Amino acid sequence: AQGVRPQVLDATAGLGKDAFVLASLGCQMTLIERQPLIAALLEDGLARARSDAEVGPIVGRMRLLTGNAIQRMRDWEGEAPQVIYLDPMFPHRDKSALVKKEMRVFRPLVGDDLDAPALLEAALVLASHRVVVKRPRKAPIIDGPKPSHSLEGKSSRYDIYPKKALKA
Ligand SMILES: C[S@@+](CC[C@H](N)C(=O)[O-])C[C@H]1O[C@@H](n2cnc3c(N)ncnc32)[C@H](O)[C@@H]1O
Repeated sequence: AQGVRPQVLDATAGLGKDAFVLASLGCQMTLIERQPLIAALLEDGLARARSDAEVGPIVGRMRLLTGNAIQRMRDWEGEAPQVIYLDPMFPHRDKSALVKKEMRVFRPLVGDDLDAPALLEAALVLASHRVVVKRPRKAPIIDGPKPSHSLEGKSSRYDIYPKKALKA
């Protein structure tokens, strides 16, 4: 299919679900995860998926870095990612968040990512083309610069911070 397949940095990898979707669309993905247990689970999953006939080629487009993405983005060497994708934990307390299995894994380990404004700031400095932030649909934007527009889904919203047009 036609289209843009940018180099994407997913700076809040979690268990790699969103990054896997982007990799399956053909994007080259770099993932960063700072929570050691989650990073270890993700590392293990990626390693085992690499030898799978069906998903091997997809995870072959995913490389994982560990540590704090804020620092890693500030220290970035080499070509800047075209797109940076952020999905930090949002501090909300409603019960609906508990029914999602992943959230039951993340919440006790990760807590709330209260440093999201610094993460967004570092991403906006590094990305060559755009930063995309995933939020719960009704949640406020991350403190800081305003997105130019948002795409709303059923339960999520994607806030777009453009720097430069993406061309095929
Ligand atoms: C809501 S989860 C992301 C879920 C992910 N989008 C997925 O599809 O599986 C947020 C994750 O980002 C990580 N995270 C948040 N801030 C980070 C930072 N500054 N550096 C690295 N990882 C971070 C958290 O540890 C947590 O695992």
